[in-house]
Amino acid sequence: MKIVTLIGARPQIIKAAALSRVIKNRFPDEVEEIIVHTGQHYDANMSQVFIDELGIPEPRVNLNIGSGTHGWQTAGMITGVEKILLDEKPDYLVLYGDTNSTLAGAVAASKIHVPVVHIEAGLRSFNKSMPEEINRIMADHVSTLLFTPTETGYQNLLREGFRPDNPSPFTADRPGIFHCGDVMYDNSLYFKEIALKKSTILKQLNLEDQAFYLATVHRDSNTDHPRRLQAIFESFLQIATTGGKPVVVPLHPRTAKLLEKNIGEKLYQQIQKEDKIRLIPPVSFLDMIMLESRCEMVFTDSGGVQKEAYFFEKPAIILRSETEWKEIVEQGCGVVADADKDNIMAAFDLFSKKKDELVFPPLYGDGKAAEFMVSKMLQNR
Ligand code: UD1
Ligand code: UDP
Repeated sequence: MKIVTLIGARPQIIKAAALSRVIKNRFPDEVEEIIVHTGQHYDANMSQVFIDELGIPEPRVNLNIGSGTHGWQTAGMITGVEKILLDEKPDYLVLYGDTNSTLAGAVAASKIHVPVVHIEAGLRSFNKSMPEEINRIMADHVSTLLFTPTETGYQNLLREGFRPDNPSPFTADRPGIFHCGDVMYDNSLYFKEIALKKSTILKQLNLEDQAFYLATVHRDSNTDHPRRLQAIFESFLQIATTGGKPVVVPLHPRTAKLLEKNIGEKLYQQIQKEDKIRLIPPVSFLDMIMLESRCEMVFTDSGGVQKEAYFFEKPAIILRSETEWKEIVEQGCGVVADADKDNIMAAFDLFSKKKDELVFPPLYGDGKAAEFMVSKMLQNR
């Protein structure tokens, strides 16, 4: 079986590691994987660091698309991916998540009848002002194999008319849908031990175990809206100055570029002067899971970081108005605080008092999601 795996944005490179690992260790003779990078993310600390660190095969092609408007960026990717698929004629194009790279792959492959595998299918925010919501709906509806990380994702697909009982072989008109757990959980289990051995981030930042907070912010709904971004960073400042514990913020380049302009000169200066707020460049995955597993609490608008907080049994304050990962909230381990300072501070107080009472039952599979996926692809060929 020959598959082309399309990566582009940071979380897709990380997710791809789980499947590449299974292919290398379990199916080296049965599966040939060709990695194609769209170039959506290109800074070394948003891309190459993960390829080097996580054992993903070096991309055979990088389309080097770079940043731009949604239409421009997606169109360039479609053209590039189509050419590769026509040349390689793979059995499947494997897509992750909900970025513009995902959408481009889905459009390119489905039009030339290359079956699409969508990993992380079925997730919905029910908010179409989010570019990712458009991308994931479109990708799901042209896919042949859809793997949902949660039961909620599976139920969303049923609600949209996907049938649970299609006979194989599955096709784009008669797709197969499977709830099989989350490749990110596979990765967290696998890389945790390696991070413990290799990561020196706590030492580098002079952080004490369980005595700091971790925060990430990158959604356009926050970075591009001054009032929202201000509310978030005012909260971080208040938490750092009143609680006395550092808030570590690995800054996505989008946020780094907009921070000063959108939170205003005064707040920006206060944050720069406050040594308990640590604005740092994006970190490697091993460093990130070290920070996630050793912090006291997580503040994030990231999908992946929300879940990893749960994997490492940390409460998550979700800096969005809704979440696709609603199990975390239902379990009481996350609060949707939006970009509202009162909500953020209330959630912070709640979790500061209650963090030891939280329970984190397994919701994301058994750590073998990638194995299941590759087996299904092989069966359906
Ligand atoms: C993208 C995804 C989002 C995902 C996120 C993961 C879309 C629509 N959005 O958002 O779903 O959660 O990746 O991180 O696909 N930039 C750099 N260097 C880089 C990459 C980006 O400087 O290596 C800057 C550029 O100014 C760029 C901006 O970040 O314009 C946004 O990048 P882009 O890939 O368009 O979207 P993200 O916000 O990263
Ligand atoms: N991540 C990382 N370094 C960072 C920030 C995030 O390795 O500095 C990892 C994080 O552990 C998770 C993934 O990137 O696995 C999440 O990506 P991101 O937040 O960019 O996107 P999202 O998940 O929201 O699409």
